[in-house]
Amino acid sequence: RTAQPVIVAIDGPSGTGKSSTSKAVAAQLGLSYLDTGAQYRAITWWMVTNGIDIDDPTAIAAVAGKADIVSGTDPAHPTITVDGVDVAGPIRTQEVTSKVSAVSAVPEVRARITELQRSLAASAETGIVVEGRDIGTTVLPDADLKIFLTASPEARAARRSGELKGADLHTTREALIKRDAADSSRKTSPLAKAGDAVEVDTTDLTLSQVIECVVTLVEEKRAAR
Ligand code: DC
Repeated sequence: RTAQPVIVAIDGPSGTGKSSTSKAVAAQLGLSYLDTGAQYRAITWWMVTNGIDIDDPTAIAAVAGKADIVSGTDPAHPTITVDGVDVAGPIRTQEVTSKVSAVSAVPEVRARITELQRSLAASAETGIVVEGRDIGTTVLPDADLKIFLTASPEARAARRSGELKGADLHTTREALIKRDAADSSRKTSPLAKAGDAVEVDTTDLTLSQVIECVVTLVEEKRAAR
C-alpha cells in the first residue's frame, strides 16, 4: 500500500531549537519542511521595503495580499522569495525581527499566510514538518503529531545569541522575552500549546537528543495507523 502522508506540527517560542529540529526530522524521514516564521518575516520585509507604517494595522491589512511569498520546502535547502526576490538573508535582520510580531498580529496577514501554509501541507507527497507558533492549534489542527518545544529563557537567549553573531546576551534575552510575550498575547491565533501536543522541554537536551525524540514519536505514530 502507499504510505499516507504524515503531517507533523512543531510549535514553541523562539530559541527552543524548533528550526534545527524540524529541518533535521524532515530530512531524516524524507518529508517536506516549512518554516512559517520565515513567511511572517518575509511579509514583514515586504511591508518595510514598501514603506508601510508598521504601527498602523489598517494600513497593513489593506496590503496583506500583495506580496507573492514562495517557500521552497526541501529540508536540505529551504528557500523563500518575495515577488521573485530571494529574501533568506534580509528576513533575519534586527529590523525585521523587531517588527515581525506587530505585522503577524494582523488578522488579514494571518489569514493569507495560513492559506499558503495549508496549501503547501496538502500538496506534500510524503508529508511535511511545519514549524511555527499556531500550527497545532489553528493551521493544521488535524496534524498526525503535534510537538510543543519549550526551554528556559536563559537557554533560549544563549542559543539565539550564538546564532546572531556578536549579539549581547542580555539584549537578546530581553528582545526575545518581549517578542514571545507579544506573540502569546495577541488576539488572533497566539502562540499556544495544543491540548493534544506532546511537550518537550529542551533546556537540558542536546539538539541530537531532541531530534531523536521527535523522530521516534513520528515513527510510533506511523506504526500505529
Ligand atoms: O520563528 P521565528 O522567530 O522566525 O518567527 C518570527 C515571528 O513570526 C514570530 O515572532 C511570530 C511570528 N510567527 C507567527 O505569528 N506564527 C507562526 N506560525 C510563526 C511565526
